[in-house]
Amino acid sequence: MYSLQMKDQRLVLIDQTENGIAPVVIDFVSGKTAYRRKYGHAGGEVISRAVGIKKGIRPNVVDATAGLGRDAFVLATLGCCVHMIERSDVMAKLLDDALHRAANDEKIGALIQEKLSLTCGDSRQALLHVPFEPEVIYLDPMFPPKEKSALVKKDMRMLQDVVGKDEDADELLNVALKIATNRVVVKRPASADFLAEIKPHTSIKTKKHRFDIYLIHA
Ligand SMILES: C[S@@+](CC[C@H](N)C(=O)[O-])C[C@H]1O[C@@H](n2cnc3c(N)ncnc32)[C@H](O)[C@@H]1O
Repeated sequence: MYSLQMKDQRLVLIDQTENGIAPVVIDFVSGKTAYRRKYGHAGGEVISRAVGIKKGIRPNVVDATAGLGRDAFVLATLGCCVHMIERSDVMAKLLDDALHRAANDEKIGALIQEKLSLTCGDSRQALLHVPFEPEVIYLDPMFPPKEKSALVKKDMRMLQDVVGKDEDADELLNVALKIATNRVVVKRPASADFLAEIKPHTSIKTKKHRFDIYLIHA
């Protein structure tokens, strides 16, 4: 049983069944996500290659599976304008709260206001109404949890419980391929099949993940 509550002026998702489990909160200003902005992010270089960041090139990105907003935030700090779409009401409320707090922050307020925005809705429809040309559409749908789900990080486990399994991810890829003007990037666990069994033009692999890149008009 999860519930959303305001604590210390932050919206938090609380697991009411497990005592002692820290609540999930999205925080772009302090904590792990902010640390990545300051000191770099191990996956930052990979994700920047995957979306096609180059010297002088910062594509507009639609993150159509925003979740906890981590990848979107990394891309925004790398200089891309990122529009997030999230269909879970709970996740969208957490993201919206995090965006408002960050937009008022002295250090990163300007960056957030300029680079990061959010729509609550299903990307299969919402992708048609994004605020800029969607050069890159980024997808990171939920992947079925491992059997040893205790090993899945706490916040990802809560996310899985709250948003479900994203069983329509194949359909989302097909929609994204029609709308993106430059590329679609799909983040998958390293050993997962290709989404919708569609072979990408290329993939970038890390130890845990694979970024499948579908070039448009290639
Ligand atoms: C694995 S999480 C994404 C994590 C995210 N990349 C991050 O860095 O925090 C997947 C999210 O995509 C959302 N999602 C999946 N399919 C969607 C769709 N068709 N439209 C909007 N959101 C969707 C789910 O609700 C879930 O919150």
